[in-house]
Amino acid sequence: GGVTTIDPGYKNTGSCESAITFLDGEKGILRYRGYAIEELAEKANFLEVAYLLIFGELPNAEQLAKFDKDIKEESHVDEDMKKILDGFPKSAHPMGVLSSLTSALVAFNPSSVDVDSDEAMYNAIVKIMGKLPVLAAWTMRKRKSLPLDYGDNSLGYVENLHKMMFSRPNKAYETNKVVNDALDKLLILHADHEQNCSTSTVRIVGSSHAGLFASLSAGISALWGPLHGGANQAVIEMLEAIKADGGDTAKYIEKAKDKDDAFRLMGFGHRVYKNFDPRAKIIKKSAEEVLGDLGIDDPVLDIAKGLAKVALEDDYFVKRKLYPNVDFYSGIIYRALDIPTEMFTVMFALGRLPGWIAQWREMRLRKEPIGRPRQIYIGETERSFKSIAER
Ligand code: CMC
Repeated sequence: GGVTTIDPGYKNTGSCESAITFLDGEKGILRYRGYAIEELAEKANFLEVAYLLIFGELPNAEQLAKFDKDIKEESHVDEDMKKILDGFPKSAHPMGVLSSLTSALVAFNPSSVDVDSDEAMYNAIVKIMGKLPVLAAWTMRKRKSLPLDYGDNSLGYVENLHKMMFSRPNKAYETNKVVNDALDKLLILHADHEQNCSTSTVRIVGSSHAGLFASLSAGISALWGPLHGGANQAVIEMLEAIKADGGDTAKYIEKAKDKDDAFRLMGFGHRVYKNFDPRAKIIKKSAEEVLGDLGIDDPVLDIAKGLAKVALEDDYFVKRKLYPNVDFYSGIIYRALDIPTEMFTVMFALGRLPGWIAQWREMRLRKEPIGRPRQIYIGETERSFKSIAER
């Protein structure tokens, strides 16, 4: 029989049971495996959070050391992958490159696809945790014509990522605690968000048993869009445009409200949060701290605050419960850390990696059926074929 109800955008359709992330959009609560996001951002590091999301418990020291070691042993990429990267124009968007490289990785690691044993599944997980930061760093380095290096296994996960992105030939790499802490916190805040567009994509692609890396490649493509992860890049571009236009925030508020104008206030609104986005609250505070600690005066932060102030008092936004989301302030921190604008969504992808993995693993362990939504057909009923001369 046919279906009688549809739910475009799955606004009110549950696709699975999940024990990973709890989210209450009315109250602005976000918890990973029961732990409040505020507490994790403050007290845990990204690798501990990754372990927590994927395996369900905070790791003890021994478990964390093993996870770290296993990831490090996998943090190399087949040298032939460099040839694939080489084929892209320098101007290629890093998200397209990252998604392609992630998909190409299957060819070099065919054993990652069959995950029927616990061991095979674990191996696929530590492989991608090790290799995705390398691919992300290479993507950025290629744009800058810098040599493609590998990580430094004496460093922690996040510091290693930073070094892979920013090390320069003939220049000693200097650790900066403020920078690493800020990056760590941003990655934690992005690490999971239940059944959002990219995560649902990872689960649905994975449900065909296409394998972890292919599923993640699809998730990266989904995240790329400006209505999802791409919003962090779009926010900074919007703030820059407002600045170049004389800083007239009121004008852009009016544009966002105008239904004949396609412009939306990027970084505003959320499908689930209807009072505030708890991540935005933490990131706003962090942005001020990081800019202060690094001694950076970014006029774009003032424009962002100005926009938020006007919007939060404006009837249009109040009535529709539109508040700044995670992407509204994250770009300001990325900029302060010297991360190029086109790389912002890649940083989001690196943060979301453990969440995608956890959701994919849960889907496989629960032996969920292949994802296959239904439709209501609204096209022509039966017609007889017309030869080309009759058309
Ligand atoms: N600026 C102006 N109007 C907006 C905005 C906005 N940013 N967001 C929603 N609206 C209006 C929308 O026009 C609609 O108005 P009306 O009821 O008069 O037609 C109403 O608010 C409801 O919007 P919707 O598009 O039906 O809501 P949704 O749940 O489908 O979309 C959203 C959620 C996040 C895609 C949307 O708010 C948006 O496009 N925001 C800007 C992009 C953005 O910041 N995305 C990042 C989301 S958070 C992190 C992530 O997912 O990566």
